[in-house]
Formats: sequence, C-alpha cells, structure tokens
Amino acid sequence: MAIRLEDVSTTYEGEKRPAIRDINLKVRSGELIAVIGPNGAGKTTLLETINGLLRSEGLVEVLGLDVRKYGREVRRRTGYVPQDFMVPSDTPFLAKDIVMMGRVGRIGLLKPPSKRDWEVVMAVMEQLGIADLADRPVGKLSGGQQQKVMIARALAKEPELLLLDEPFSSLDARSRETVCRLIADLRDDRSVTALVVTHDLSAMPEECDRAVLLNGGRITADGEPEEVFRSEAFLRAYGHIKVVRP
Ligand SMILES: Nc1ncnc2c1ncn2[C@@H]1O[C@H](COP(=O)(O)OP(=O)(O)OP(=O)(O)O)[C@@H](O)[C@H]1O
Ligand SMILES: [Mg+2]
Repeated sequence: MAIRLEDVSTTYEGEKRPAIRDINLKVRSGELIAVIGPNGAGKTTLLETINGLLRSEGLVEVLGLDVRKYGREVRRRTGYVPQDFMVPSDTPFLAKDIVMMGRVGRIGLLKPPSKRDWEVVMAVMEQLGIADLADRPVGKLSGGQQQKVMIARALAKEPELLLLDEPFSSLDARSRETVCRLIADLRDDRSVTALVVTHDLSAMPEECDRAVLLNGGRITADGEPEEVFRSEAFLRAYGHIKVVRP
C-alpha cells in the first residue's frame, strides 16, 4: 500500500475548524489518481498532510512509514510539485541547477553530483522538452517553462510517489499531454504512484485509474473517474457542468 489514511483531520495553526476531516483513503502502489474538487476543498491540504508538511490527527502511513515519525524519509522518496512557487526574477540558479536539487537527497549534502546525476537531470529535461533551457537562469523563464522545471525537479528525484498540485495550470495542451504520458509511463514501468490535483477537469490525465473528489474538506466521491463524474456528490460540488475529457 503506497498510502493509507485513517480518520485523518488536519487543522491549520490558529484555526478551529479542520481544513480536511475524517479522511479515509487507501492507495495501492502504481495507482494514478486525480484529486479533484472546487477551490478551498482541501486538495493542497491533503497533499501536504500526505508528505508530512502539515501536522494531522489520525493515521498517515506513506510508503509503509508513519509520516509523523518518518516525514523526512517520506519526503526524500516523494516528488512534490507545489501549487504556488515564486521564482524571483534575479535568482542566480540555472534551470539545470533547480532540477539537480531534486537529487540532493540521493547525492548527500556537500557531495558533488556524479556523472549519472547529470545524466538523469538532462534526460528528464529532454523528456519534458526543456533541455535547451538548461543553462538559462530560471527566473528569466516563462511561467510554463518554470512549471516544467519544477516537474523535472520532482522527476529527477526518481521518486516512488509523486504529488503534483495543479501541475498543468500554465501548460499548453501538448505539454500537458507530455507530462501525463511521462507519469503514466512511470506508473507502468516502475509502479510509481501519483496523486495529481487539478480543478480543471478537462486537464485530468486520461490515464487516470481513479478520481477522488474533495468537497468542504471531506472525500465525497472516490472511484472510477466516469463513476465519480456521474455521482450526486459531483453535482453538489460542481453543479451541472459537462466534463469533456481529452
Ligand atoms: N495556511 C492556512 N491557514 C489557515 N487556513 C488555511 C491555510 N491554507 C488553507 N487554508 C484553508 O483550508 C481550506 C482548504 O484549503 P486548500 O488550500 O487545501 O484548498 P484547495 O482545494 O487546494 O483549493 P484551490 O483549488 O484553491 O487550490 C480552505 O478553507 C482554506 O481557507
Ligand atoms: Mg490548492
């Protein structure tokens, strides 16, 4: 089991009401799951509960480890692309340096990257179509290019679990497809588990095995995507909209 959450609630500091509550979720290794739900539903909170960035109540077991005790280890084995990242335009880091940061946990602090580390970094950038940006300062790249650099960083980690929070928000349709393909290949070839948050339902990877719908901090539907789209809970969350999957 890649993820096991039992009766999990997460409350932000200083808040009375939990942002997510009574969450029960089991994810098998190699599942590719779309996490959907309207703004404020608790999608980001769920991801940061899973990787132990937020403290929660209940059982949070990820990659067989209790996140409360082994959060650092879980994060070392998890590729996380946060929803909002700010890159100062005068940052001195080059795109390839940012991608290499994904490998620091493997290389060890203060050790120089090996030839293989650079190979992994360049291969991932190649796959995402950003190899030609490797030597550009990351602050000077476009929003979509920066998003690809962040995705590359997560993939360069060679993670067992991917947590992607709105990774498609700045990507054009073709790039989106490339990223979906890469995630699905990692699932097929290496049983990588992935949770992909998106509130744009047309951006849902078509390779998704399962959709989890959050609304008001609770999981209100969980199952095959088509089944979730037809559910009462889906109508309650989104009203009557038509979902057009690519
Ligand atoms: N740092 C914070 N402190 C207090 N409350 C927070 C904090 N971050 C989020 N919340 C609250 O927790 C709830 C869930 O927020 P969350 O960011 O998880 O939603 P989301 O589903 O990711 O939304 P979006 O689609 O807008 O990204 C919201 O009610 C939000 O106001
Ligand atoms: Mg969010």
